[in-house]
Amino acid sequence: MFSRRSDSLIAMRIFSQREENLFSTRRENFLNAKRKLSQHEEKIFCEEKCRIIALFLVLHGSSFCFLSPEEKNILTTKKKKTHYKYNVCKLFVKFVGEKHKTYIFIIFTDMKKYNFSAGPSILPQEVMKATAEACKDFNGIGLSLMEMSHRSKDWQAVMDETDALFKEVLQIPAGYSVVLLGGGASMQFCMVPYNLLEKKAAYLNTGVWAKKALKEAKLFGEVVEVASSADANYTFIPKDYVVPADADYFHITTNNTIYGTEIRKDLDSPVPLVADMSSDIFSRPVDVSKYGMIYGGAQKNLAMAGVTFVIVKDELLGKVSRTIPTMLDYRTHIDKGSMFNTPPVVPIYSAYQTLKWIKASGGTEEMERRALRRADLLYGEIDRNRLFVGTANEEDRSLMNICFVLKDEYKELEKDFFDFATARGMVGIKGHRSVGGFRASCYNAMTVEGVQALVDAMRDFEKEH
Ligand SMILES: Cc1ncc(COP(=O)(O)O)c(C=O)c1O
Repeated sequence: MFSRRSDSLIAMRIFSQREENLFSTRRENFLNAKRKLSQHEEKIFCEEKCRIIALFLVLHGSSFCFLSPEEKNILTTKKKKTHYKYNVCKLFVKFVGEKHKTYIFIIFTDMKKYNFSAGPSILPQEVMKATAEACKDFNGIGLSLMEMSHRSKDWQAVMDETDALFKEVLQIPAGYSVVLLGGGASMQFCMVPYNLLEKKAAYLNTGVWAKKALKEAKLFGEVVEVASSADANYTFIPKDYVVPADADYFHITTNNTIYGTEIRKDLDSPVPLVADMSSDIFSRPVDVSKYGMIYGGAQKNLAMAGVTFVIVKDELLGKVSRTIPTMLDYRTHIDKGSMFNTPPVVPIYSAYQTLKWIKASGGTEEMERRALRRADLLYGEIDRNRLFVGTANEEDRSLMNICFVLKDEYKELEKDFFDFATARGMVGIKGHRSVGGFRASCYNAMTVEGVQALVDAMRDFEKEH
């Protein structure tokens, strides 16, 4: 932040022992602040003339700023601007310059960001750090992950471990292969029917992504839409439908990222079950034996964008009569250990790190426990709060994407709440345009603390309106 400040703010200020003692009651905060300051290699000094700039910085979410009492009052009492107080008053306030007849506050705020984005989305800090490190120097070999050969022994070890971890964490039974590809989940919308659809396929239409998958399948054969909740803007998961016994497979989207509905059970299907699990993979234990195929883009619970995972039952492949282009044939990638062509090494490496993190954290059982805790907290607040209402049918509510809107009578407050929550560090909570309102995506790496911060914002906003 300070790298962007104007030179007029540069000055010297060294905390003295005496001043440190002034903070003995808030020693932790003070030491933290000092640590941060030295991280920025900044010593701060503030003059009155800087305060206007400082005020500007506060309004733009700065981490450090300087305010006079008058300015602080403006920020904390002006009704419209009340939410800024949470930026500025968080940790400590220091009285410095009585001599100059001005109170100068050095205000240190955490400005912690809570990333509720739908995808690309929050990943564990450890994963991002390890991946960044490997991009600088992979395992201390003196080469960046970005420049090393994917045919090297070092890289092969990552591929092997990633495959083994994938199978271990999801308890994938024998007879299934895991492949890592490019092209995103959207590429799977056509690869699935290319490889599996001989005559007829069944699709459950639960949202935009399900519909896109269904559209592609129509290019390859007959498609039966067994049920759809489109008429209700996909607010629920249809339950009463029959899957034709002569279909080559039945395709579902387990988590509907846009609408916040989720199929949290492994369904029974009379034909091979194919699931797009882009946005809920690894959030709960899955009985893989009930599926013919599971696929998804990585950019929610697995990795940075750029890699797509496919778990496929080997015996389903090679049954269609059409010729499949080499790159679109799953068997090509199984045979070549996902390295028929140059793999997206950095995204795969981040997936490898995430798998290690999931395993070390307690596996998918623990991920599910955390997801339930986060969801209970947030849905609890949505249901309690006078201003908000959830959009998805209660029994189909997603643990990953929690969608809510302002009640009709408070609709005009939508932008105000967005600004209010943003000022408290919430990121990515705007709902998808087809639902409106808000969507808090609570993927595996989201902490209860993050959800609590959003809940607190909702409570405080309610108090003010
Ligand atoms: C459930 C689901 N399926 C498919 C996709 C498309 O993924 P990609 O962008 O990797 O093609 C998304 C993207 O958000 C999604 O949420």
